[in-house]
Amino acid sequence: MDKKQQNNTHVSWFRQSAPYIHAHRGRTFVILFGGEAVEHSGFPHLINDIALLGSLGVRIVLVHGARPQIKQQLDTLNIQSAFSDNMRVTLNEHMPAVEQAVGQVRMRIESQLSMGLPNTPMAGASVRVVSGNFVTARPYGIHNGVDFCQTGNVRKIDTEAINQHLENSNVVLISPIGYSSTGEIFNLRAEDVATETAIALNADKLIFVMENNGVTGNDGELLQQLNLPEAQAWLKKHGSEEQENQETQSHLNNAARACRGGVRRVHLISRQVDGALLLELYTRDGTGTLVTAENYEGLRMATIEDIGGIMELISPLEEQGLLVKRSREQLELDIYNFTVIERDGMIIACAALFTFAEEEAAELACLAVHHDYQEHGRGDDLMQHIEWQARKKHMKKLFTLTTQTMHWFLERGFVECAADDLPIEKKSLYNYQRNSKVFCKPLH
Ligand SMILES: CC(C)(COP(=O)(O)OP(=O)(O)OC[C@H]1O[C@@H](n2cnc3c(N)ncnc32)[C@H](O)[C@@H]1OP(=O)(O)O)[C@@H](O)C(=O)NCCC(=O)NCCS
Repeated sequence: MDKKQQNNTHVSWFRQSAPYIHAHRGRTFVILFGGEAVEHSGFPHLINDIALLGSLGVRIVLVHGARPQIKQQLDTLNIQSAFSDNMRVTLNEHMPAVEQAVGQVRMRIESQLSMGLPNTPMAGASVRVVSGNFVTARPYGIHNGVDFCQTGNVRKIDTEAINQHLENSNVVLISPIGYSSTGEIFNLRAEDVATETAIALNADKLIFVMENNGVTGNDGELLQQLNLPEAQAWLKKHGSEEQENQETQSHLNNAARACRGGVRRVHLISRQVDGALLLELYTRDGTGTLVTAENYEGLRMATIEDIGGIMELISPLEEQGLLVKRSREQLELDIYNFTVIERDGMIIACAALFTFAEEEAAELACLAVHHDYQEHGRGDDLMQHIEWQARKKHMKKLFTLTTQTMHWFLERGFVECAADDLPIEKKSLYNYQRNSKVFCKPLH
């Protein structure tokens, strides 16, 4: 690649990131990574990326784990600690090792965030990190006869203090440790701390930087997006599996909990992918699994602001003759008939409903899904939504005109009918040259 091409690629990449930069500014993201990440040679890259998010105006709360470091400390002291329900039983005499390990990890992170040598990505970053007694804990207690001693649960998150620090553009760093009103120290699961913090802060995103490759489907393919019922179905199916999926199960469980608690988006990204955080947040499709609280990702009625986005989506399809040409003026008039699916500020699908009261018939028009997002059921989602709207308006049948998508409609309960069957107003506009086929579906 020559210099000019390199410049073009750079400029075009930067421009494509611009909408995400605008969208994420001022938002609160809670990011969790395990103690394994801190040990890895790629850790400075992750820290650079986190510092960059801060420079781009993201309010950052970091939660770190320290499992391998605690294990190492205990090993050094020749202490074997027991596990039950995948949780460490922390005896009183283990606590000095836990405190030492967690303290060391926290200092390592702080030191990395303090770097600022010239000619490094951290040059000029000057990140201010704050840690503190933000997490109140209580004992996890006795389960099935096992006393977990100093292993604890999150009781309360001091959101006011955290928010104050975020307001001052500080990065808040939280360790998997909690304090109680009795003055005790508890060993907590970092995933729980991150999840409870995200819920308490009403964070815009909770991001789990995972050790494995993400949530995969039956054939080992990465699942890019799951809504809450899908995440729950995955957990039901894989819940009984042993070790292999344990991290994914635990993170997905927490993701579902966060969604139920009001966090709109939870990302599970792999630490194995260099720059996964930036790819996930500043490109359209990311590299990990997004768990969303919504059933229909971004499906909503259109507004006048969507006209540009809809035109961008449908213009190429109009050129190909798949859709009838619509002028901007016409779109402006019809915009409130449109339903759209928006993803990260881009309109990726649309459809419109027009009703003919006299004939109690409704038209499904301008159904389009952006090429990159087809074959994931979005066409179906839109059609079902339009059908639902038509039913709500007491329409008796739904019809559509198509030139190249006949089978798609046939497979969804439509049958071919004659142009003569169209409502009078529509018939008068029927374009015989276009020679579209008419498909109808009764609405019971
Ligand atoms: C038709 C369209 C809306 C479907 O969107 P989508 O989100 O991919 O739809 P779904 O995911 O629900 O359905 C995908 C299925 O439809 C099939 N399909 C897509 N286009 C088709 C066509 N022209 N004819 C028949 N089947 C088609 C796919 O092969 C896939 O089938 P599979 O499940 O057996 O693999 C989309 O392909 C599109 O925008 N096409 C261009 C515009 C257009 O033709 N609009 C209709 C105007 S009347």
